Amino acid sequence: MRIHHYEKLWLIIGSLILIIFLSILAVQTFVLDMGPPSHAETIDPQSVRESELFANTGLQEVGDKEYEIAMIAEMFAFRPGDLEVPVGSTVHFTLASPDVTHGFKITDTNINVMVVPGHISKISHTFDESGEYLILCNEYCGLGHEYMANTITVK
Ligand code: CUA
Repeated sequence: MRIHHYEKLWLIIGSLILIIFLSILAVQTFVLDMGPPSHAETIDPQSVRESELFANTGLQEVGDKEYEIAMIAEMFAFRPGDLEVPVGSTVHFTLASPDVTHGFKITDTNINVMVVPGHISKISHTFDESGEYLILCNEYCGLGHEYMANTITVK
């Protein structure tokens, strides 16, 4: 069978692309140990309010301009309420819901996670610009959904 040399060229390029793509995937999976974080950390929704992790709901300073906070997203509020951090702070958020699925979105940042009952959601962000950022629930969670909003003030 005679294959035109352009056909051969495209077969080679196509095969190379496939090999490169699969190699990258293999390195990410087996060398860098990357994978979706599903089921990474779970929590019984009924015990969220009593759990040690969420008992101390306030900003904890863990380093130079580095904070941790455990927040509960529940009908229809985020606890604790409004936050304030200095400019340049990195905040590590840990979130859980004791009732239904909520959203956790901070405007003008890349933070946008779902807070699914039974699962612990974690996300970090460095606030390099001062201002008042709105924290919103962007998953419809019931009649009070629209009131589920806080602010994080960076100054
Ligand atoms: Cu919580 Cu919408």
